[in-house]
Amino acid sequence: MLYISNHPLVAHKLSIMRDKSTNTEQFRSLLCDISELMCYEVTRDLSLDKYKIETPMQETTGFAIVDNVSIIPILRAGLGMIDGLVKLIPNARVGHIGLYRDHETHMPIEYYCKLPSEIENGISIVVDPMLATGGSAIDAIDMLKRKGAQKIRFLCLVAAPEGVKRLQDAHPDVDIYACALDECLNENAYILPGLGDAGDRIFGTD
Ligand code: PRP
Ligand code: URA
Repeated sequence: MLYISNHPLVAHKLSIMRDKSTNTEQFRSLLCDISELMCYEVTRDLSLDKYKIETPMQETTGFAIVDNVSIIPILRAGLGMIDGLVKLIPNARVGHIGLYRDHETHMPIEYYCKLPSEIENGISIVVDPMLATGGSAIDAIDMLKRKGAQKIRFLCLVAAPEGVKRLQDAHPDVDIYACALDECLNENAYILPGLGDAGDRIFGTD
């Protein structure tokens, strides 16, 4: 399943992020806001248990989320999405997968992996602002599956059609949530129109 947000707040905030005159401080803050907004969509089907609660007026039925949620940012840029998600799911565990794209080959290179111990029992949300060729997302999800994760979803801001197709082919069981589906990749495998290099814009590097 590919879900593309049609929420006006997401479109508004993403447009400001795309603008090259938006500075690092604004970019980080908007990324946090959008991650929070997209958290509604990516958690829409979590399971609930019923339990009894007493309001000040009478007894009624309360609901509690039963799924254990793990959030897995792909370093570096995925780190910018953590705060917005953890704000809404404060008991979520956070794992980290370190990947960077080789500038010549555009292939992802793994440099770090630390995942929650009970990853196989809950829902894993892999987060990265950019889905370009799909190589990083595919490798990250391969790593998660090798550790036993079963219910995985992928959340990004901007997706390229090429990356969506590759990810869907490699992992048809993984639902993809994106704020926008862009036009294509350029010759350097950057997304057009995109928002540039997400990691550099979040961390102020170049
Ligand atoms: C970017 C981005 C993704 C990846 C997407 O990271 O954050 O992880 O590229 O590209 P792909 O779909 O073609 O794999 P980058 O490799 O630039 O590393 P960084 O986050 O450390 O800047
Ligand atoms: N990584 C980015 O940060 N931006 C792109 O457009 C493609 C990959």
